[in-house]
Amino acid sequence: MGKTIAVAGKGGTGKTTLIGLILRWMAEQGMKPILAVDADANANLGEVLDVEVPGTIGDLREGMKTEVPTGMTKEAYMEYHIQNLLVETGTYDLLTMGRPEGAGCYCYANSLCTKFIDFMVKEYEYVVIDNEAGMEHLSRLLTKEIDLLLVVSDPSLRGIRTAGRIKELVEEIKLKVGRLALVVNRAPEGRLAGEACKLIDEIGIELAGVIPDDPLIAEFDREGKATVKLPAEAASYQVLGEIMPKIFPY
Ligand SMILES: Nc1ncnc2c1ncn2[C@@H]1O[C@H](COP(=O)(O)OP(=O)(O)O)[C@@H](O)[C@H]1O
Ligand SMILES: [Mg+2]
Repeated sequence: MGKTIAVAGKGGTGKTTLIGLILRWMAEQGMKPILAVDADANANLGEVLDVEVPGTIGDLREGMKTEVPTGMTKEAYMEYHIQNLLVETGTYDLLTMGRPEGAGCYCYANSLCTKFIDFMVKEYEYVVIDNEAGMEHLSRLLTKEIDLLLVVSDPSLRGIRTAGRIKELVEEIKLKVGRLALVVNRAPEGRLAGEACKLIDEIGIELAGVIPDDPLIAEFDREGKATVKLPAEAASYQVLGEIMPKIFPY
């Protein structure tokens, strides 16, 4: 299989927005086939991408407990339904994980899910994962190394310290990561204060780039328009276009 890119970071830092813009950038570079995975329990990548989501792996896992017709194996049921959960847009396919296994986790269903996802992921050249705030999901979702993990932070010192802790956590849980880099998002005028730069140095995290707070993103939010449809001149997208070639795991 090909390259895997994922994001990490506190809620609200802009992970989903960034994943949306990265997918658009990749599509514009002609990269394909791409699988986008929304691995956030509170899934909203579909909205950012303007894609209607028919259902989630979480729903399917629940369905496996009660809805498998007699005479059909659970595997056959899953194989049949998982195809319906995959949205094909022509530029990328989107798979939405939905709610994670709850109390009384149905382990057979879970391991089947992982098996099918592993299988699916092998069919794509690129897998781009919108991750939830915690990191546990990511290690369970993928058995393979993550080629690029972008830790997203706001420009505050507190935010950057949190990014530093995420880096430590990645090391602690021994998540296999090829390259880990920090993206500071929503920086006023796209600039970082001297103190913030100093802290990033101290933490010893690679700074991939600084994305400005973009009034166009806010405007699209207000008007309920999909972020991925921002005009190409949007400041955030311009900067993303400068960052990506420097860090993309070609
Ligand atoms: N560079 C930016 N400029 C302005 N608004 C942004 C920017 N990045 C993200 N946002 C806004 O911040 C909010 C949180 O972003 P989101 O991508 O949903 O964060 P996360 O996925 O990390 O929870 C959204 O309303 C989004 O539109
Ligand atoms: Mg999100």
